[in-house]
Amino acid sequence: MRHILTPLDFSVSELDKIFDLAADIEANPKKYANACRGKKLATLFYEPSTRTRLSTETAMLNLGGSTMGFSDATSSSVSKGESVADTIRTISCFADIAAIRHPKEGAAMVAKQASGIPVINCGDGGHQHPTQTLTDMLTIRSLTGRLNNMTIGLCGDLKFGRTVHSLISAMSRYDGIRFAFISPDELKIPDYVVEKLEENDIPYEEFVRLDDVIGRLDILYMTRVQRERFFNEEDYIRLKDFYILTPRIMRRAKNDMYVLHPLPRVNEISVEVDKDPRAAYFRQVQYGVYVRMALILTLLDIHVNDDGSVTEEA
Ligand code: NCD
Repeated sequence: MRHILTPLDFSVSELDKIFDLAADIEANPKKYANACRGKKLATLFYEPSTRTRLSTETAMLNLGGSTMGFSDATSSSVSKGESVADTIRTISCFADIAAIRHPKEGAAMVAKQASGIPVINCGDGGHQHPTQTLTDMLTIRSLTGRLNNMTIGLCGDLKFGRTVHSLISAMSRYDGIRFAFISPDELKIPDYVVEKLEENDIPYEEFVRLDDVIGRLDILYMTRVQRERFFNEEDYIRLKDFYILTPRIMRRAKNDMYVLHPLPRVNEISVEVDKDPRAAYFRQVQYGVYVRMALILTLLDIHVNDDGSVTEEA
């Protein structure tokens, strides 16, 4: 049985297959409309979410399956003190696949160990968020036609941003990738991430000012300051508006640079940037549905034939 806790749970060639499948789903959605008929997805969300939960549920619904779950731990037996392990063991009796989001790093790993069904990590604390990364990668691949030879700038909360940590580890496996880390000192990329890059001779530079580097980027990945992971409110207030991407700053960027953001956006991208053809963050949301459909099929080992019939591995 397969799970996805980090994007590294899949090899580069397996990820390529998922992206090819997602592209086919985008081109031929009807072919996939009954692929998961009779299958159930459970979403166990112990932390707030709009896109990730609804996108994962939409993915299952688009495949003809159904969904159940909780979006607020206080409405489940978690509020009575039930452990993640016992919850997933129970859910394994009801559903065919589970998607979990939890504020603690490692929660998805605990779930996987106790689970009788494939587990999708939808974010564990500040650690990893693999389905957002697959979304980001499909977006980059669809818009630029490649996943190699590019400079990716990540800007904002690089310390607590799990989408940042996931994307760096996944993109590090492709040739010719250079990273630019743009953050205030207090929100710098963690040492363990940088050490991995150094071990693998992957070039990176660190900046405080976005202006200093935006002209060299192929992708600009903006992120929200992760208020819920701060220890005190004063630090959050001081740092929250450190970056605001505006049309003035966009003027310095290449014509073929794309702006991505996992969303939700707070203040870090001015709404005037939304009209810029390089603003790709809402297209990114749509790619997230295709890639999660492809991921669900892959984890359930369901192969969809050209006529829409299904071959399910035993
Ligand atoms: C991200 C997350 O939850 O880590 N959102 C998302 O899943 N699209 C980013 C964020 O909350 O800032």
